[in-house]
Amino acid sequence: MNEKQLIAQRAAQRIQNNMLVGLGTGSTANLFIAELAQRVQLEKLKVTAVASSVISGIYAKSQGLCVISIEQCQQLDVYVDGADEVTPDLTLLKGRGSDLVKEKLLAQASSAFWVIADSSKRVQHLGERNPIPVEVMPFAWQLVQASIAKLGGNPQLRPNANQDGLAVTSHGSLVLDVVFEQAYSPAELNALLNAIPGVVEHGIFYQLATEVITAD
Ligand code: A5P
Repeated sequence: MNEKQLIAQRAAQRIQNNMLVGLGTGSTANLFIAELAQRVQLEKLKVTAVASSVISGIYAKSQGLCVISIEQCQQLDVYVDGADEVTPDLTLLKGRGSDLVKEKLLAQASSAFWVIADSSKRVQHLGERNPIPVEVMPFAWQLVQASIAKLGGNPQLRPNANQDGLAVTSHGSLVLDVVFEQAYSPAELNALLNAIPGVVEHGIFYQLATEVITAD
């Protein structure tokens, strides 16, 4: 069993009867969904799930989980998702996928947020390995780009997977991937990006994660 599978299994083993569980998006989240579905089936657990993306919802249903829509829930017991980077103070960088908005909403609405990120995701400083994704309203991207440039950032519109157009998120937004020359703390950068008009959401998950589940 590889590290991602082990972590996903550990997380699934901690889900209890009658929990409302938020499902993340990505390869590790998918492993968690499969492990959880297996437990639900074998142990006849009552678990309800809410998905952070269309793709996770479809997968969870295909595995037999009961999935309700995000509009139907106010408070979740736990949100379980991967990350692209994790710092020692549990700030996360997310958003290599295109479902930042729901991911952050579910993380915020959950009593606990378990991060299922393998050891390759651990960094000392946010943005060490990946640019910071900033989701913007399509008509606002140039104004947001200018605002970010004033903060010392270098924002580039994210191309789609085929490199023949732009990446568009599940909610129709564009994504600016930003490398900052200036070193900001996660708290500063979180606040600065939150304050820019036209920004729909960004990939810094500050003070949201409650625990990182590791293989060891
Ligand atoms: C989704 O938007 C992302 O933040 C993923 O959670 C992140 O990229 C981790 O993905 P993997 O589990 O596939 O490594």
